[in-house]
Amino acid sequence: MTVNRQRPRRSCLAVPGSNPRFLEKAQGLPADQVFLDLEDACAPLAKEKARHLIVDALNNGDWTGKTRVVRVNDWTTHWTYRDVVTVVEGAGANLDCLMLPKVQDATQVRALDMLLTQIEKTVGLEVGGIGIEAQIENARGLVNVDEIAAASPRLETIVFGPADFMASINMKSLVVGEQPPGYPADAYHYILMRILMAARAHDLQAIDGPYLQIRHVEGFREVARRAAALGFDGKWVLHPGQVEVSNEVFSPSQEDYDHAELILDAYAHATSEQGGMKGSAMLGDEMIDEASRKMALVVAGKGRAAGL
Ligand code: GLV
Ligand code: MG
Repeated sequence: MTVNRQRPRRSCLAVPGSNPRFLEKAQGLPADQVFLDLEDACAPLAKEKARHLIVDALNNGDWTGKTRVVRVNDWTTHWTYRDVVTVVEGAGANLDCLMLPKVQDATQVRALDMLLTQIEKTVGLEVGGIGIEAQIENARGLVNVDEIAAASPRLETIVFGPADFMASINMKSLVVGEQPPGYPADAYHYILMRILMAARAHDLQAIDGPYLQIRHVEGFREVARRAAALGFDGKWVLHPGQVEVSNEVFSPSQEDYDHAELILDAYAHATSEQGGMKGSAMLGDEMIDEASRKMALVVAGKGRAAGL
């Protein structure tokens, strides 16, 4: 069986692994992905218990229709290996990916890949079945993002972690996801594009990180639209109020979707024998060609996946 590494991820819901109420509630929300967190949403003294709560939630919860991810702690801590062993041995059959935070170079991804392979062999899971999401959260990770994106066939996404990233580069803002005061342009543009290029060069998805002003839905929408406009596939959501907005922003509008399907139909006709095997055609006032077909396919693909 080959694993589908291109799963829907318009909204990726953060769920603290130490909180049984949130683990329960998350199951009823329309997020494309959930990630049950053992890292920064889990206090150090709660991590041990959270591993077991997560195993139980994965095995006994109803996560139908959702990509199931667990975020483990990063390799500079002493928690990572036990996070991985406990979660994958306990619930590997009900888990799609592990998220590895604060990735700094390719060896950190490879180390997780090797550990996963051993556990999969030991417990009789398909080898390579569990995917990896790599979070870029500091300057070293961003500088090495190309080698990180190429580090393992298990990789599915590169994920931007703005809170840790802003801290790591001394960006002068305390509002995660918002622009730092005093800078007249988009302070995130370079970082987002760098991540997107590395992801696309290796056929991975690119996911934008959290927006912490959870009651400011319009602020979330604006930041999400920026990432969606560049080509990102989805964004983290921290609150039920952000889920639908994220699903909407990372899906094409009905109008764009319909237009994309029209381009595909018109181009298919123009290049067919009945259409005269032409390399380009007119759709209303718009000239379309093979490159237009590719652009339309991106929008149509997302629209079909969103059920438009
Ligand atoms: C997420 O992990 C972040 O640091 O923004
Ligand atoms: Mg972080």
